[in-house]
Amino acid sequence: MNIKIFEKQTDLDHYAADLIVETVKQKDRPVLGLATGSTPIGIYKSMVEKYRSGEVSFRSVTTYNLDEYVGLPSGHEQTYAYYMQDNLFQHIDIPAAQTFLPNGMASDLQSECRRYDDMLAKQPVDLQLLGLGHNGHIGFNEPSDVLTSGTHVAPLKESTRLANARFFNHLEEVPKQAITMGVGSILKAKTILLAVRGADKAAIVREALTGPITTECPASLLQTHANVIVLLDQDAGKEL
Ligand code: GLP
Repeated sequence: MNIKIFEKQTDLDHYAADLIVETVKQKDRPVLGLATGSTPIGIYKSMVEKYRSGEVSFRSVTTYNLDEYVGLPSGHEQTYAYYMQDNLFQHIDIPAAQTFLPNGMASDLQSECRRYDDMLAKQPVDLQLLGLGHNGHIGFNEPSDVLTSGTHVAPLKESTRLANARFFNHLEEVPKQAITMGVGSILKAKTILLAVRGADKAAIVREALTGPITTECPASLLQTHANVIVLLDQDAGKEL
């Protein structure tokens, strides 16, 4: 693993955005895997700046997001679809028809998962951006005895619902399920960019990157991937 620790948050953001832009420029039809949460917001801001300065166009890019909550209606401010519009898509020139997220309102969630995997099989991800949950989850692959390879409906741990409750009015409003790419789908990306910030993640960063490879820490499976770049701020990297 290639681990980089940054003194300034904005340096991490620019570095990540540079890598993403480089991928976009290198490929004819680049495919990006995208993530949500608070961590990538600065990275998306930096991508928008690069687009506005004329450095890059996203016209030929296709994106697949990692996950989406189940049961939040389209347009709800806490859907990841809304987040992506708000933080990235509406500010750049990517055609809407080339941006994909799982549909958490699908009447048949299982066939929605299969549909997503079929699309991913046809358009393998060149670069997958990832954040890290406090319990080691990636996407919404929560710690467990077993993990699922493909896209699936995942029950959310209480700790994850609590961590994400800050974005909702009440804990009861936080969905109990999400559709997420599986760890197998995530590991198929040619390059993985894991970005983590904050002292509250320092212990799980150490566990994920240097601990045993175990389904109890889904991010530890990243140790098996040949091309992972880890971007940390000093707080997140202080236990390494
Ligand atoms: C959420 C998302 C993950 C994200 C994680 C960390 O639950 N499903 O993809 O990486 O939480 O989020 P944050 O960056 O806000 O700490």
